[in-house]
Amino acid sequence: MKKIAVLTTGGDAPGMNTAIRSVVRYGISQKLEVAGVFRGWWGLINEELKILNHRSVSGIISQGGTILKTARCAEFRTREGMERAYETVKKNNIDGLVVIGGNGSFSAALEFGKKFNLPCVGIAASIDNDINGIDATIGTDTAVNTALDAIDKIRDTATSMERIFVVEVMGRASGFIALTVALAGGCEDVIIPERKFDLNLVCHDIVHGNLIGKMSWIIVIAEGAGQAEDIARQVTEMTGLETRTVVLGHVQRGGRPTAFSRGLALNLGKAAVDRLLEGKTGIALGMIAGRIGEVDFETAIQNKALDADSFYQLNKILT
Ligand code: F6P
Repeated sequence: MKKIAVLTTGGDAPGMNTAIRSVVRYGISQKLEVAGVFRGWWGLINEELKILNHRSVSGIISQGGTILKTARCAEFRTREGMERAYETVKKNNIDGLVVIGGNGSFSAALEFGKKFNLPCVGIAASIDNDINGIDATIGTDTAVNTALDAIDKIRDTATSMERIFVVEVMGRASGFIALTVALAGGCEDVIIPERKFDLNLVCHDIVHGNLIGKMSWIIVIAEGAGQAEDIARQVTEMTGLETRTVVLGHVQRGGRPTAFSRGLALNLGKAAVDRLLEGKTGIALGMIAGRIGEVDFETAIQNKALDADSFYQLNKILT
């Protein structure tokens, strides 16, 4: 293996830049040439890539986003798209790919790698932490802390004005961010796509709480489970109490990666290069049981189960 390429695809996650820096600098230390592909699979289809050197990745260790840009590329899932992408691979003598992204990225990498017998190693990066078999992905810790910072601030005003807030966090198909920030933020209820939720019960608790002097309430909702506005309207209808809503949105995707996200990204970048040099392919790397570990792409793209029940039990006792 003489030359590898690195790309970021799907939703960006804070720490992707940190991972790119590691792949490039560690790759060079292993006598590899490293190309950066722009805008994910789109860049491979359209031959938008350039050789990166030590200096190309200066000053990005602490920057959110990705200097390589990222995109969701439907064209890559077509036969023609994949063939054009492989033309770029051949023409540029690329011997292996490091794909930094989430589920969608890995399912595309699985197909591409198999079809053209091209070594592909994934680095798990997604704020949703929804990659099966992997405990921690790049970006989740940062996104959770961003959301938590906002929730702590909302708590101040909710308590002072004795109000009910419904806070919408990211997670189209995953309740990980919602559950984590709700527990860490002492939020009274959380609504996630993976679990049925009875708003009548919540409203009953709110009314009962009011009678015994508990006047403020924060309900966290993952975007995939519904809209904050909708829930707030129903709570007001059922309880007669005033509500406010906050949609945190894409602020959760940006910002300086935390020490944890950076440390993970730096270690995963090195590990991805090592795995390619060892001849491995078709695997996604992430933190597993406290260490850098791997799962095959087929496993990584399955639905990840969330232990929501134990969260709910603990949260009910503690709030
Ligand atoms: O990257 C994951 C994620 O942030 C989800 O939590 C969210 O639902 C989705 O991406 C939003 O995607 P987009 O930025 O393309 O609207």
